[in-house]
Amino acid sequence: VIKVPFPQNEPQLSYAPGTPERARLKAALEEIAGKQLEIPLVIGGKEVRTGNLGKVVMPHDHQHVLAEYHIAGEAEIKQAIAAALEARKRWQQLRWEERAAIFLKAADLLAGKYRHLMNAASMQSTSKNAFQAEIDAACELIDFLRFNVYYASKIYEEQPLHHSRGVWNFVQHRPLEGFVFAVTPFNFTAIAGNLPTAPAIMGNVALWKPASSCVYTPWLFMQILREAGLPDGVINFIPGRGAQMGEIVLKDPNLAGIHFTGSTAVFQEMWKTVGENIARYKGYPRIVGETGGKDFVFAHESADVPRLVTALVRGAFEYQGQKCSAASRAYIPASLWGGVRKGLEEQLSRVKMGPPSDFTNLVNAVIDKGAFRDITGYIDYAKKSEDAEIIIGGGYDDSKGYFIEPTVILAKTPRFKTMVEEIFGPVLTIYVYDKESYEEALELCDQSSAYGLTGAIFAREREAVSLALAKLENAAGNFYINDKPTGAVVGQQPFGGSRASGTNDKAGSPLNLMRWVTPRTVKETF
Ligand code: ALA
Repeated sequence: VIKVPFPQNEPQLSYAPGTPERARLKAALEEIAGKQLEIPLVIGGKEVRTGNLGKVVMPHDHQHVLAEYHIAGEAEIKQAIAAALEARKRWQQLRWEERAAIFLKAADLLAGKYRHLMNAASMQSTSKNAFQAEIDAACELIDFLRFNVYYASKIYEEQPLHHSRGVWNFVQHRPLEGFVFAVTPFNFTAIAGNLPTAPAIMGNVALWKPASSCVYTPWLFMQILREAGLPDGVINFIPGRGAQMGEIVLKDPNLAGIHFTGSTAVFQEMWKTVGENIARYKGYPRIVGETGGKDFVFAHESADVPRLVTALVRGAFEYQGQKCSAASRAYIPASLWGGVRKGLEEQLSRVKMGPPSDFTNLVNAVIDKGAFRDITGYIDYAKKSEDAEIIIGGGYDDSKGYFIEPTVILAKTPRFKTMVEEIFGPVLTIYVYDKESYEEALELCDQSSAYGLTGAIFAREREAVSLALAKLENAAGNFYINDKPTGAVVGQQPFGGSRASGTNDKAGSPLNLMRWVTPRTVKETF
C-alpha cells in the first residue's frame, strides 16, 4: 500500500477588494444569477429528466429563480438502486489507490477550475457571504476529500496483528454489501459532498438525496466528480421527496448504510423504519447521522469579555445561525453581564444585513419560507412572554428575501423555550446566572438540552475550565475552550456530537470511514 502524506488544509482565499479572486468571484456571481439552470437527476451516469420540477431560488431575493431541478419519482428511485448495485460489481474490485485518484482529482478541480463558480453558487443559492462560502464549499469540501483519502490509506495499511510461525493473518477492509443512502443538508455544501463520497472512497456505491433547499451546489459537485472520472452509477444523484424516497430506499433489502445530516426528527423516523424492516436486509445497515444541536457558550467570571463577545457574535450569527454548531444559548455570570451586553450592542450595531453579492454584509437571508416562519415564530413568542426580553434585533422582513435581524433574547428563567429548543436561525438566548453557583449553572447547562453537539467554555482560570470539562462531559462532542463553537476544520477538530445530536462518528476521520467497511479476518496456516 502506498504511503499518503498527511494533507495540508486548503488555504482560504480572502476575496479582498481589488484582488483578482474578487473579480473572478464577482463574474461568477453574475453568471449564476444571469442564467437559469436545468438540473437533471444522474442515474447510472445518465442524465434523467422527469419533468416534475422543483425550483432553486435566491433566499435573499426569492422571486429570482436560479434553477429548476427534476424530482425523482418511484421509477427513478428504483432505477438508481439498480444502477448502484450494478456499478458496485466493478467499483469494489478497483484497487483503493485508483478510487483515491478520482477523489483527489475532484479536490484539485474544486480548488482550481471550479472554485469561484462553486462559491458563487453557494452564495446565490444558499445566501452565504463570500467568507462562509469559501470555508465551506471550497476549503472544507476539498479537505474532506484529501483527508479521507489519507485516513483511508491508514485503514488499508495498518495490520496490527500477531503472526507466529506457520500462521499468516490479515484483515481485508471490504465495502459493505449493498448501497449507502446519503441524505444531505442545506447548510454545508462540504457536508453534502462528504456524505456520499466518504463511503465511496471505501469502495461503496451510493444514492445521494440532496436537501430540496440545496440542490445547486451538490449538482455542481456531482459534475466535478464525473469530470474527475467517477464511474457511472457509483454515486447516483436523485433530488426528491424525502418521505417517498424513504418508503422505497429504506425498505430495500440491499440497504447497507445511511449517511445522514439533517433534523433529529427525520433521523429518528429513518431509524424507526430501519428497525421495523430489520429482517429484510442482508445485514444490519450502518446508521451514521449528525442531527440537531442547542449549542452553548458558557462563561466563568474569569472570562476575557472582549473575546467572549466576539465569539458570541460570530458563533451565533455567522451564516444566520444556520450551522448545527451555532451558539444558540449562553450562560453569563452576573458580574460580567454589563460588559457583555455593552459589547454585544456595540458589535451588532456595526453588523450589516443584505444580499451576499455586495461583500460587506455579514448577515444574509435565512434559507427559505419555512425557516423564516419557524424562526420568527420563536422571536414572536419571546416578544410576548413575560419571562424574556428582546434586547437586540427582533425585526424581520420577507418582502424581498428572508431577512431576520440578529436577535438577542434575555431569558429570565433558565429553561425558557428559546433557551432549550433548537431554532436554527440568528437568535441567541442568554441566561444571566446569579443565584446559582458556577457549578450549579454548569449542571443547568448540561441538563437543559437533549442535544450534545458543540459548546464552549470561556474562563481564564484553569480550575474553572477543568470543572466545565467534567460537568459537561457529554454535552458537546466538540468542546471549545475560549473559542466560538463553530468552524471545526477537517484534520484538526473531527466533528460530531452525541446524545440527540447524532451517532458521533466524526465526519472526516478514520472512525467515520470504518463505518463504511466490513472487515474480513483471514487466517492461513502452512
Ligand atoms: N463543521 C461545522 C462547524 O464546525 C458544522 O461549524
